[in-house]
Amino acid sequence: MTVAVIGVGKLGEALLAGLLRSGREVVGAERHAPRAAEVADRYGVAMASPAEAAARAGVVLLVVKPQDVRATCAEVGPALREGALVVSMAAGVTLAALEAALPPGTPVVRVMSNTPLLVGQAMSAASAGTRATAAHLEAVEALLSPVGRVVRVPESQQDAVTALSGSGPAYFFAVVEAMVDAGVLLGLPRATAAELVVQTAVGSAAMLAESGEHPALLREAVTSPGGTTAAALRVLQDRGVAAAFLAALEAARDRSAELSSG
Ligand SMILES: NC(=O)c1ccc[n+]([C@@H]2O[C@H](COP(=O)([O-])OP(=O)(O)OC[C@H]3O[C@@H](n4cnc5c(N)ncnc54)[C@H](OP(=O)(O)O)[C@@H]3O)[C@@H](O)[C@H]2O)c1
Repeated sequence: MTVAVIGVGKLGEALLAGLLRSGREVVGAERHAPRAAEVADRYGVAMASPAEAAARAGVVLLVVKPQDVRATCAEVGPALREGALVVSMAAGVTLAALEAALPPGTPVVRVMSNTPLLVGQAMSAASAGTRATAAHLEAVEALLSPVGRVVRVPESQQDAVTALSGSGPAYFFAVVEAMVDAGVLLGLPRATAAELVVQTAVGSAAMLAESGEHPALLREAVTSPGGTTAAALRVLQDRGVAAAFLAALEAARDRSAELSSG
């Protein structure tokens, strides 16, 4: 089954590379000719117009900016094969909008991913449209598994997903930035502080992912009574860091809802 990747910008290229790595037949479409040629050269992949690409594919991935989704659907819709699945990666574009822009009866899945997709470590959440079945969701999970993990959520939870994992990398980047600045304040060279913090983030993330332990347990394991970690955690608690995260994620969830209804 051929997969069409419509739009090979940053995210589209990373998806296309992941699909090729997992042995899929892929055809790309990209409206900037120089960019299309660059991707064709780099991966030896066939490029076509969106309609031609869709006509060859069993699954059509839309990897264009949200504002371009409607026009892209109008281009690929008439060319879709009978039963072809359309997967939208566009943030905030609802299943209702996608279904309205595509021929009636088209199975559609909406996916919210995040930037670690660029390094094969995405967290993606998939929601099925009215015509998409469990088998379609399984197909999407299989397609996206080379570039990270996938969960299924009802569409009503997509704004929460956007707040948590969609915008999530930025929160971690902000925490790393603040810790590196703190390291500099404590007298460490910036490069050393950055290396210490980044590897600590990588190691902590690996412990969370590999152990499956509750973060509170892992935190307690490094917090000896009356020690340095306890002193730091007390300050974070006094300054309301946990409460700030609750408020921040509510703000992101509300903004996501606003953007997708606008
Ligand atoms: N970047 C991320 O990590 C991330 C995370 C979550 C969700 N997303 C979603 O993923 C989508 C793509 O993001 P991106 O950062 O990869 O965007 P991008 O770099 O702008 O890539 C999209 C590419 O597709 C081209 N394009 C637009 N309409 C087309 C059409 N009809 N046919 C062929 N090519 C077309 C665009 O051309 P122009 O430059 O002319 O527009 C651009 O080159 C967005 O909807 C975004 O919301 C991205």
